[in-house]
Amino acid sequence: MGLTADRDWWRQAVIYQIYPRSFKDSNGDGLGDIQGVTSQVKYLQSLNIDAVWLSPFYPSALADGGYDVDDYRDVDPKLGTLADFDEMLNELHKVGIRVFVDIVPNHSSNRHIWFQEAVASEPGSAARDRYIFRDGKGANGELPPTNWISHFAPSAWSHESTQGGTGNQWYCHLFAPEQPDFNWDNEEVAEDFLTTLKFWADRGVDGFRIDVAHMMKKDLSEPLKDVPEPVTLDSKVAGNEVLFDRDEVHEVFKSWRALFNQYNPPRVAVAEAWAKPENIHRYASPDELGQAFNFDLLLADFDATTYREIVTRNLAAATKYGSSSTWVFSNHDQVRPATRYGLPRGADLIAFKNSNGRSETLDIGRGLQASIAAQMFALALPGCTYIYQGEELGLPEVLDIPESQIQDPQFLRNNKFDKGRDGCRVPLPWTRNGSSFGFGSACAHLPQPAHFSEYSVEAESGVSTSPLAIFRKALELRKGLVTTEEMQWHETGDPNVLHFSRPNGWHCLTNFGQSPIALPPELKVIHASQPLTGSVLTGATTVWMSA
Ligand code: GLC
Repeated sequence: MGLTADRDWWRQAVIYQIYPRSFKDSNGDGLGDIQGVTSQVKYLQSLNIDAVWLSPFYPSALADGGYDVDDYRDVDPKLGTLADFDEMLNELHKVGIRVFVDIVPNHSSNRHIWFQEAVASEPGSAARDRYIFRDGKGANGELPPTNWISHFAPSAWSHESTQGGTGNQWYCHLFAPEQPDFNWDNEEVAEDFLTTLKFWADRGVDGFRIDVAHMMKKDLSEPLKDVPEPVTLDSKVAGNEVLFDRDEVHEVFKSWRALFNQYNPPRVAVAEAWAKPENIHRYASPDELGQAFNFDLLLADFDATTYREIVTRNLAAATKYGSSSTWVFSNHDQVRPATRYGLPRGADLIAFKNSNGRSETLDIGRGLQASIAAQMFALALPGCTYIYQGEELGLPEVLDIPESQIQDPQFLRNNKFDKGRDGCRVPLPWTRNGSSFGFGSACAHLPQPAHFSEYSVEAESGVSTSPLAIFRKALELRKGLVTTEEMQWHETGDPNVLHFSRPNGWHCLTNFGQSPIALPPELKVIHASQPLTGSVLTGATTVWMSA
């Protein structure tokens, strides 16, 4: 076994995202950890994935689930040690699974040694220049320097006094106040991230997921500019180029590519870039990161016309720019697809989460069927599919976490406007019974609902119709079926049904509607997202067929 020498392994891979604090707890402290991942290498191998991506496991006070990093070149002591990391990497490599780590370059945590130094230093000092410190507006500098807003808190500026500073400056944080933004015009910052990338690449890490890649470079020329319409994260509003999706960021990624190409095989990367659609390909180009998450399917309704348009457009872009398309339905920031697809179209997800799941009609059975059908549809496409932990179990979003136990700053910081993302971060259930359903020997850091028992690995393992069995078989078959990167649509005559094939005679049909349709008699069923009866394809079902 072990790793293949294929330099292009990532172009049509299946990458499984591990949110380490919620995957498996090896020492009974309620938090998942690195040894927990190592203890489940066999399970990961049984999924037939090509790689895992680990969300941050670095030292962190968890102001934002670990995306507030104290030290980019260490493991949080609560999660293990660098030696544990090396062991995990080695064990995964032995069974042919590659490893991505998460790089968070837009901001550090407020506990990072550089930020501590910055707060303790004078305005205008070299230490402050690594972050974005500015004088405030108003007669006494009592107002924030610009109208920029934060994703989690009202303003993107906090006064230095909130961090123990004795001067009268403000610092910029496009996320929580505990996540100060770096000044990417500062050479030391750029150099330090190259050192971090090299640190992990030298240890044998195969790839990197780049957090909010489109936000690193800002227009910091004086005087700082207000934005026309303050938005967070997403940059589609004209004028917001002050903060998002700037040309200069591509110079950074070109320098990262030069580093990645010094390795054999070259290290790979994927951008999380909420950039303008016409610009996403730049992040994914072969002379930059190679891939960027494509969130189009994640944001779409389960609808044939929409899916076809998304696939056609993204595959054309991947071919034109030499990248590989990605398909994403879930991650640690998003409502789980079984729940999303179980809601009526156009449902307001934030209102739904805030109502603890009570205000809309949720059809979780249909949602789960649609979610597996959608993911099998994507797994048959050319490109790379990202699967978030627990999707293989068909986990629903957890909607009733008591307010007192919510950890997400999206809820805590934003006037409780949005209940946040904890509902998809609840620790995985491994066994039917036991405290924390086998997640650890004690409790779980977020409460698991009783119904997690029936979604546990143990409960689903022996059942051929379970999501786990269906995913496992799909991923096993896929390994043998992946072919060159072409696909061809076939007209079905039914607006709710999509049919495409790959050059080796691998066909995929998905029924997005409610009414069953007849399967093409000349093709043979090789796998389906739910059991089929007779030669019909029921609603919310995907079938793979061969010629
Ligand atoms: C990304 C992460 C999210 C985090 C944010 C700030 O969007 O996926 O979890 O809160 O960046 O780092």
